[in-house]
Amino acid sequence: MSIINWREELFPYKQATDELYIKFNSIKKEYIDLEQHSPIELVQTRVKSIASIIDKSNKRDIHLTKVFEKLEDIAGVRIICKFVEDIYKVVQLIRDRDGKDLTIKEEEDYINNTKSSGYRSYHITIKYKVITATGAKEIPCEIQIRTMAMNFWATIEHSLRYKYNGNMPTHLREKIEACAEASFKLDTEMGTIREEIIETQKVIQIKENLVYEILKNIQNLYYIGKIEEMNEFNKEFIDLYQEGDIEKLNKFNNKLHTMATLYKVSYIG
Ligand code: GTP
Ligand code: MG
Repeated sequence: MSIINWREELFPYKQATDELYIKFNSIKKEYIDLEQHSPIELVQTRVKSIASIIDKSNKRDIHLTKVFEKLEDIAGVRIICKFVEDIYKVVQLIRDRDGKDLTIKEEEDYINNTKSSGYRSYHITIKYKVITATGAKEIPCEIQIRTMAMNFWATIEHSLRYKYNGNMPTHLREKIEACAEASFKLDTEMGTIREEIIETQKVIQIKENLVYEILKNIQNLYYIGKIEEMNEFNKEFIDLYQEGDIEKLNKFNNKLHTMATLYKVSYIG
């Protein structure tokens, strides 16, 4: 039997998760820049450990030489959302890429079809093409999309499942099932005030972006040697910031813009 070169075999899987991590995070960043609510809250990736691959192949009776063909979750991406509605937005974002930079193989909606354990998440299995030094390769990858509450529940249930090796005592099983329902109730309740929460977050985001713009403009004055002006504006900014009036900050930023045009500052940053 030939020996598996794990490092070489797993390399493209790491590349696939790294690339997908950048792509999904970049979508998140785009929403933030546009001052819109991002359906993506957090992206996590992992390549299954060699020990877990061996364990799973033993459990499933898969010969080790076939694991890369048969296991579809060696590369894993997890997308965490704030609201249940966001999950379906992310699903749509992935569907829109089907046939472009990825191919969808399977979709499993464990939210509308909750597992008997209480598990909820939306799974999409994809094939993702990477090009490594040794050529192109189609990598299977499992994307799990879930809310923060679903993630909280799943990680806890997973460690309990691991601890009891599948034989969880009945009272604990019942408790964890009740927890799944309670956490889904939280998701549902949060969903009813989603718009209001998003609106508040937007205001915070607008302020953050504005402060970023202002500081960038003030810094540009430094770069063109207008140190005195820079200090003046800096003082004014600190006072305005403490006042906390967005409208005033906005006007102040416009003033800085006009100033920049006057000095013909070519923007840095
Ligand atoms: P497996 O990957 O072996 O489970 O095969 P499958 O594709 O038939 O399973 P499924 O799509 O149901 O689940 C794939 C992954 O979802 C698992 O590896 C887990 O990460 C997660 N998952 C599924 N069911 C549960 C559950 O009851 N509890 C927890 N914590 N995670 C689950
Ligand atoms: Mg699956």
